[in-house]
Amino acid sequence: MADLLVHGIGQLVTNDPAHGGRLGIVADGAVLIESGVVAWAGPEGLLSRPSGDVTEIDVSGAAVIPGFVDCHTHVAFAGDRADEFAMRLRGATYEEIMASGGGIASTVQATRAATDDELFAATAERTRRMLAAGTTTVEIKSGYGLDFTTERRLLEVITRIGAETPMEVIPTFLGAHVVPPEFADDREEYVRRVIGEMLPSCAPLARFCDVFCDRGAFTTGEARAILVAAAEHGLGARMHAEQLAVTGAATLAAELGAASADHLDHAGLGDLEALAAAGTVAVLLPGVSLSMRLPFPDAAAFRESGVTVAIATDANPGTSYVLSMQFVVALACLEMGMTPEEAVWSATRGGALALGLHQHGCLRAGSPGDLVVLDADSYVHLAYQPGANLARMVVKGGVPVLSEPGPTS
Ligand code: NIG
Ligand code: FE
Repeated sequence: MADLLVHGIGQLVTNDPAHGGRLGIVADGAVLIESGVVAWAGPEGLLSRPSGDVTEIDVSGAAVIPGFVDCHTHVAFAGDRADEFAMRLRGATYEEIMASGGGIASTVQATRAATDDELFAATAERTRRMLAAGTTTVEIKSGYGLDFTTERRLLEVITRIGAETPMEVIPTFLGAHVVPPEFADDREEYVRRVIGEMLPSCAPLARFCDVFCDRGAFTTGEARAILVAAAEHGLGARMHAEQLAVTGAATLAAELGAASADHLDHAGLGDLEALAAAGTVAVLLPGVSLSMRLPFPDAAAFRESGVTVAIATDANPGTSYVLSMQFVVALACLEMGMTPEEAVWSATRGGALALGLHQHGCLRAGSPGDLVVLDADSYVHLAYQPGANLARMVVKGGVPVLSEPGPTS
């Protein structure tokens, strides 16, 4: 692999506090990537020019940011739910649709019926669009199989995305997404199967275990049992917490030392302080508030609590068919009250920390050579031009994977 020098960078966001401030901004910067890994990032005037075989790209004053780390997605699924989306806009609620056998259950039906290759093609097309919008690392959850065979198949497809496309993938087992219809009358048996059969089969393919712990999904008691068992299989914990109702899921996430607690629309300040004390990252998903026409979480409470905040797409066919982290940055600023500085950090470094990826989400020696050259001279444009695809070039592991703006996702 030839080394890559990206230079002529008008504004380089490193997320390395050594350069000052939260975003570690360097004016007139350069990034040298060797064997896929950042060897040096800083002011171009201080660069000692490498002598070997180096591809040089002059970006003529553009801004460069680390590749986005989308730390919460459900992009491995078949079919879509455009019909339900239209029903919701006519007044039906998400929980009514879910209770009448639609919602997650209808995606489960389509996913079980799809072949491995169909699932791979549909998922790869979505991750291609994510990459085109600047996401270079994505967490993908299972959770639309909800049986022994299909949960495992989904994790195999998710693994293939990481192996056969440029996108870096962190797989999460979400067998406890909802209780599938065939166990509606015996949820205890479903939880037993998740723990006793699905976890042992799926754990080798996953890095994390997630539970949708909420009204209409799993209780805190069930979530605890599943996540404790998952830890015995070597999986870190993440939780869908306080999305639809106050359940105590956030404090459970803190108690279990989960890597992240996600959604948190109904979390109180005490919950956020508990997460902060536990080192659990709060993942906010404003695409859901937009798509569900619900109030957005207020960034001020999160700021006050001191919790580390990540933002992510929650890309899924029901509540947030949003694939672009650029759009999430814009929503976080315009609807949640984050500053552009906070939002860009949360979409890159925050996402990396939520996934336990301590070298990702920044541009400093030792971090992966993942960056986005913007069609703008400042990262602020990500919020200032909502809906635009400002990714002029996306580099993953030192390789330019896309050098033309992709379709706006
Ligand atoms: O994160 N909260 C649970 N799961 C998804 C929704 C999945 C769906 O509706 O298909 C979410 O919002
Ligand atoms: Fe989710």
